[in-house]
Amino acid sequence: MKKTALVTGGDRGIGRAIAIKLASMGNYVIINYRKREEKARETLEILKTNGWDGEVVKADISNKADVENMARKIKESVDGVDILVNNAGVGFASRFIDIDYDSWQRQIQTNLTGSFYVTKLLVEDMIKKRWGRIIFISSIAGIHGVMFLSAYSASKAGIIGLAKSLAIELAEFSITVNVVAPGFVGTKLGSSYFGWLESIGYKKPLESYLSYVPSHRLAEEEEIANIVGFLSSNEGSGITGQVIAVDAGSSLISGFVKK
Ligand SMILES: NC(=O)c1ccc[n+]([C@@H]2O[C@H](COP(=O)([O-])OP(=O)(O)OC[C@H]3O[C@@H](n4cnc5c(N)ncnc54)[C@H](OP(=O)(O)O)[C@@H]3O)[C@@H](O)[C@H]2O)c1
Repeated sequence: MKKTALVTGGDRGIGRAIAIKLASMGNYVIINYRKREEKARETLEILKTNGWDGEVVKADISNKADVENMARKIKESVDGVDILVNNAGVGFASRFIDIDYDSWQRQIQTNLTGSFYVTKLLVEDMIKKRWGRIIFISSIAGIHGVMFLSAYSASKAGIIGLAKSLAIELAEFSITVNVVAPGFVGTKLGSSYFGWLESIGYKKPLESYLSYVPSHRLAEEEEIANIVGFLSSNEGSGITGQVIAVDAGSSLISGFVKK
């Protein structure tokens, strides 16, 4: 039977690739966006051009009232979400001593609390149907930490704790909960990190980083989307509570970025 998927932050970047992948697998895909409606519609257009189906829905996931409104709209439009991909996220590089409280709060509020709001409001229908797939997009920063990303890393590590506990609680309803942890990807978010390193005096930080990565390349959006696709399918039924890195081998490295 056709399933319904929600991808938060599906308007661009990794979220767009995930929306395309899930639609190509026959799912009806709801593309959440925060402010770039034109980008979300662009993603929807890609789906429609391929003969797939979906819709767009606006919500700032860090805002509880917004998420409640989105959940209400989704309930009016479809019979609950079967596959939830908590992808939306923000990341700001900073030396720890320079992190301002607003920046800390925004990263925790969006990446961790926002994912919690969305999951809490949508899991009920999965429980009723006794089937569901929840996939959190964390980061390798949440597994092994990344220099100058302590707030981001904390938010992404929090997601892993949330997912693991939830996986235990929801197993009796045939709902799996997993985490995909991308390495650096050349999206706006990923590129901004290397730009920031350059701004504080690092010479060619991306080249330096890639020289350590075993495959000497970044991970790609579609590679993240492929594993999300697998975890969302019936074939992924035996996998729950797991953290899967898709990072072109970067978490195996023994060095990082040379100044
Ligand atoms: N790129 C990397 O190197 C990398 C590595 C590891 C993990 N990740 C994770 O992968 C996910 C996707 O990142 P990306 O690389 O695709 O970054 P991106 O291109 O910057 O896209 C981020 C997406 O999240 C959305 N978003 C941010 N805050 C939101 C909010 N409050 N409510 C709703 N949507 C919101 C953005 O919407 P707007 O268009 O409105 O800004 C955008 O659609 C994130 O969770 C990120 O932490 C990325």
